[in-house]
Amino acid sequence: MATNTDQKTIRFKVKRQDAPQTAPYWQDFDVPHPPGANVISCLLHIAANPVTADGRTVAPVAWDCNCLEEVCGACTMVINGRVRQSCSALISELAEEAAAVTLEPMTKFPVVRDLMVDRSRMFKNLIDIKAWVPIDGTHALGPGPTESPANQDTRYALSRCMTCGCCLEACPQFLLDNHFIGAAAISQARYFNAHETGKTLQDDRLEALETPGGVSDCGNAQNCVQVCPKDIPLTESIAAIGRQTTVHAIKSFFSGK
Ligand code: SF4
Ligand code: SF4
Ligand code: FES
Repeated sequence: MATNTDQKTIRFKVKRQDAPQTAPYWQDFDVPHPPGANVISCLLHIAANPVTADGRTVAPVAWDCNCLEEVCGACTMVINGRVRQSCSALISELAEEAAAVTLEPMTKFPVVRDLMVDRSRMFKNLIDIKAWVPIDGTHALGPGPTESPANQDTRYALSRCMTCGCCLEACPQFLLDNHFIGAAAISQARYFNAHETGKTLQDDRLEALETPGGVSDCGNAQNCVQVCPKDIPLTESIAAIGRQTTVHAIKSFFSGK
């Protein structure tokens, strides 16, 4: 069993920001870490002992987290230059990469405070593409349509999205001040369009993705698929939605809608 004398100490370099409109600054903290420690447990240590490496008592660092098992996405930040979840970032692995652990908030979302960002743009994008199955009033209609095992497999992979924002942080087309909807929402449109009941809203989803900021704004850089912690086939989703929007646009043209 580990004791305090077994604990090593690692330097944290934290990019801080007191409020959305104030300038960021850096502070260093030396944090003892027992075996198995992760970034969140070290942030908890800093919260309980907010003393910088040069001995100043400061305001505790603010961050966001919830599930602590890499399913909610709330703790996403840039760690040693790579966007990822802080609850699954083990100190033992980070210590092999560099002498210090650098923590920064994501850059594609407004900073609320320190490492906390406002990801509400992602959730608004899900509303825009109607990322739900419309089942109101169907409780008395009997069993829903059957679904093939192959379709279940495809949709299961897409269902793992936790709206963390890694794909948007890495995307050169998704900026703080533009309207690109991003890979996550495009992939969710594919997910719900492939559902036997969810596809009743397919036209609405495709129309939302045909507007400026939709799927045609993707530059195909493929950064998104490389950073997704859930290995979601984002470039396949972008290609699939690209095909669906093309077919939809042609049908709309000939039907005069
Ligand atoms: S393929 Fe490139 S441009 Fe398109 S969503 Fe992914 S990272 Fe962004
Ligand atoms: S697609 Fe992947 S990287 Fe993007 S929000 Fe979903 S889980 Fe995160
Ligand atoms: S706290 Fe939920 S993903 Fe890290």
